[in-house]
Amino acid sequence: MFLFESEILSNVRVADDLYLLTFRAPEIALRAQPGQFVHVRCNKGEHPFLRRPFSIYLVERETGMVKVLYKTVGIGTALLAEKRKGEQLDVLGPLGKGFNSKAVQKSALLIGEGAGLASLMFLAEDLRKRGVEVSAILGGQRETVHIGKRYFKALGVKVETVEGDTKKEEYQREMAELFREALGKGVDRAFGCGSNHLLALTAHVARMLKIPYEVSIYQNMACGVGACLCCVRKIREEGKLTYKLVCKDGPVFNAEEVVWEV
Ligand code: FES
Repeated sequence: MFLFESEILSNVRVADDLYLLTFRAPEIALRAQPGQFVHVRCNKGEHPFLRRPFSIYLVERETGMVKVLYKTVGIGTALLAEKRKGEQLDVLGPLGKGFNSKAVQKSALLIGEGAGLASLMFLAEDLRKRGVEVSAILGGQRETVHIGKRYFKALGVKVETVEGDTKKEEYQREMAELFREALGKGVDRAFGCGSNHLLALTAHVARMLKIPYEVSIYQNMACGVGACLCCVRKIREEGKLTYKLVCKDGPVFNAEEVVWEV
């Protein structure tokens, strides 16, 4: 894990409330694994005091570039959206435990929605570089889905999309149905990132079809390094209930182990 001031190379709006931030951080670019995250100070002053966690969207190991795709949802991300090329960024990372992409030999299925697509992009690239056949189901608002579709297709990923309000029952039903159909065709492993609701639904489907499924879960964080204990999540481990830290033990967990309270 590294803490340093890195130079912002670009910070551009790519959809309604979605931004792509690129900064130079060679140590992070070299060591980051798909599913890990960085913890960013969004402002130089004291407000907001806490850093914000962002999934690593892509890295370029040769040039030392790291990319983060983020949605403006509050004061921290609004301040981050104001940052310009050439400014310094206080970054901590790479943090957390990422996806076990090495467990896939032949084929993988990814399912993500909204800003959750961010942590799957790096994974898709990693899998495609190793010759794995990848398909993806992308859901959420129209613009976000279209951007995701374009990026994923450029990697040679087969993409299906569901546009709509992620809280609506018909949207959730359609996502779960596509997931069930795709798993039914047979894949080595599935990976998901999105709302708790989507992950709980799809975890149920994967369990029924006995396909290993890893999920990146969202939880509010403060320290990001396992010190404040504010990101606990209930986990079932070897049949026993326990609590784990999303920032340190996750954010990626085996979907079977997560106790879904939705
Ligand atoms: Fe502090 Fe996880 S955010 S322990």
